[in-house]
Amino acid sequence: MDSDPSLRAACPIPRHPAPTARVRRLARMTVERPDPAKAQRFFADFGLTPVEPPTADTLHLGGADGARAIYTVRRGPRPRLLGLTFTADADAVDRLAALDEASTPPALASDSAPTPARRIRLAGPMGLWVDVVARAPSRQPETPPETVNETRDAPRINRPVRLAEQPPAIRHLGHVALEAVDFDGAVAWFTGRLGLVPSDVQVLADGTPALVFLRCDRGPEPAEHHTLVIARSVEDGLNHAAFAVDDLDAVAMGQTVMRAAGWRHAWGVGRHLMGSQIFDYWYDPWGSLVEHYADSDRFDADHPAGVMPMSRSSMAQWGPPMPAHFANARLTPRRLWAIARGLRREPSLTIGRLLLLKRALSE
Ligand SMILES: [Fe+2]
Repeated sequence: MDSDPSLRAACPIPRHPAPTARVRRLARMTVERPDPAKAQRFFADFGLTPVEPPTADTLHLGGADGARAIYTVRRGPRPRLLGLTFTADADAVDRLAALDEASTPPALASDSAPTPARRIRLAGPMGLWVDVVARAPSRQPETPPETVNETRDAPRINRPVRLAEQPPAIRHLGHVALEAVDFDGAVAWFTGRLGLVPSDVQVLADGTPALVFLRCDRGPEPAEHHTLVIARSVEDGLNHAAFAVDDLDAVAMGQTVMRAAGWRHAWGVGRHLMGSQIFDYWYDPWGSLVEHYADSDRFDADHPAGVMPMSRSSMAQWGPPMPAHFANARLTPRRLWAIARGLRREPSLTIGRLLLLKRALSE
């Protein structure tokens, strides 16, 4: 299934004509968890390790570079997303700093070396804070790629594949997927303030956008297909966080290690349609989804947005069927309460649209 040209002509989420700034990449997310030590055990198998000595209340985890935090855990009663950190050029940070909602966030030791970075904090949508920091990306250690023997081209001779059974090397935090009751407000904030642009939009049968994949606008320099996903929902919250690994072997080895450690698998291995990533999803100890992925599409600023109908079958090109628990479509008493609250709070959320959303997720 490819983008529908008749829908593309009228993309329901246009690019913002003059965003305050254009961020370069997603650098870090910060979550609240009741038990940071448990989070540390889970992520040790997933591929993240502390970059600063953990305290009883704070855990800063990083990937293979071992240098910078990409996932920070703060002790707190309610498992939830607290904030996101993006990087941008210094002049972009200056423009954001002039906004009324800007303040100065607390410094983080792993962000300070070798030179202190200029950073500002914005009050974002859904009660999230959004930090923007001016700094260069961290240098990644070199790992020689495994040479692949294909039927057309088989250069690996007299050299068997022997992979270490260990958590995959995580290169960066790739994207975060959010659920938003005020979908339009959240999309307007991230496109207007941070200059994110739509790569693909999925719409309901009545044309209402229900899912948008947003990427960083780096001009002629390609960026991954999505850095932020926003889904129209009855509740605000984090849907999943995705971490980039090198290749299919790394994704599948991640599954082998996580299964052996007894963590709860969610969905995969498969290949997405939107973004084309090879994916594998896991539940963390609080039921929040985390993803290993490889081989993302990359678009430069010229690539137009695709528009297509939303459907369950459009989530993957191959792989096992999406399990029912993954779509979170069960009507538990808690979910019914959330639906009632969402309908009361947000005028754009109607029973008709919720039924279209439910139908789309079951097709
Ligand atoms: Fe994802």
